[in-house]
Amino acid sequence: MKRPAIERIAINTGGGDAPGLNAVIRATVVAATQRGWECYGIRDGYNGLLEPKRFPDGGLIPLPKSAVRGITHLGGTILGTTNKGNPLKWPVKKGDGTVVETDRSDELMKAFRKNRIDALVAIGGDGSLSIANALAQKGLRVVGVPKTIDNDLDETVITFGFDTAVSFATSCIDRLHSTAEAHQRVMVVEVMGRYAGWIALNSGISGTADVILIPEIPYDIASVSRKIDARTKSGAKFSIVVVAEGAVPKGGARSVISKEVGRAERLGGIGEIVAKEIQEATGKETRCVVLGHLLRGGSPTTFDRLISLRFGAAAIRALEAGQSGVMVALDPPTVRYVPLAAATHRMKVVPLDCDTILTARDLGTCFGD
Ligand code: F6P
Repeated sequence: MKRPAIERIAINTGGGDAPGLNAVIRATVVAATQRGWECYGIRDGYNGLLEPKRFPDGGLIPLPKSAVRGITHLGGTILGTTNKGNPLKWPVKKGDGTVVETDRSDELMKAFRKNRIDALVAIGGDGSLSIANALAQKGLRVVGVPKTIDNDLDETVITFGFDTAVSFATSCIDRLHSTAEAHQRVMVVEVMGRYAGWIALNSGISGTADVILIPEIPYDIASVSRKIDARTKSGAKFSIVVVAEGAVPKGGARSVISKEVGRAERLGGIGEIVAKEIQEATGKETRCVVLGHLLRGGSPTTFDRLISLRFGAAAIRALEAGQSGVMVALDPPTVRYVPLAAATHRMKVVPLDCDTILTARDLGTCFGD
């Protein structure tokens, strides 16, 4: 059966913010407006539709072309975002104080119909795009756009936000070289990335770190210490260690800060642990710097702006062509469309035989294995 023509679309941004979100929103709105479609933005993920009373100015905001003027270079998202509002696992507090996960997707579908939304452009990472896939299964026309600084979405060569995060981390590592050398210290830099080591690997190599610890390669602190001792013996009195927040010691566990119902676990703290162990093992003064949310802030790089604009426009072309349940993916030199299910069914982690790892090993980088 042929679906009715699109007249009105909604756009949402879900999960952790990433540089480039506003560029995607602008491209989506401008391309849709050119086709005569009306655009609305959902506030804070899906909260604008599920909890409209929390938004005095409206949970669904009109997005005429004028609303997206001058936002391509801005970090954050003009729509707001959340990683607490998963409609498939909405946390509901029971009378006895316990919190249970509840599926509110039928309510959400009703809200789309009530607001006469014909299609959705969902901009998000694995969690948000899994929700988008569930909505597509329920009959909503949905196209996803791959966002995350972690670069852990499958089926796309890169996600937007990643390049900005890596560029910033690299410039931080550059700065740490001079202070590490001046004080003859070991500097440990903890970076985000969740269960994938892409940010640590790419910034570590670009910033010429001596040791890079990623979740894909469990580390042995004795191996890390040997590398640092060898540098000291060879006359290099300082070392730089980049640690992914999801790095794991051999036979050990990830460093988790907290785990709440309806939310992904929070990682962190591994940098301090590694720094303490290095100081104990090598006797060298060691300091830890956690880059954390600094990696998500600021203006997107040129690369991220460009792919964000390309992804946003491509999402509208997909909807116009009648596609649904797909994600825009970068497949240089072009973009293509892949099923949302394929993009979210597994995490894209660093392959141990990829040439970036081989390059690092050829350059003498220690992975702690
Ligand atoms: O997925 C993006 C990300 O920044 C991860 O790298 C990190 O683990 C997580 O989000 C942090 O989330 P929050 O902002 O909720 O602490």
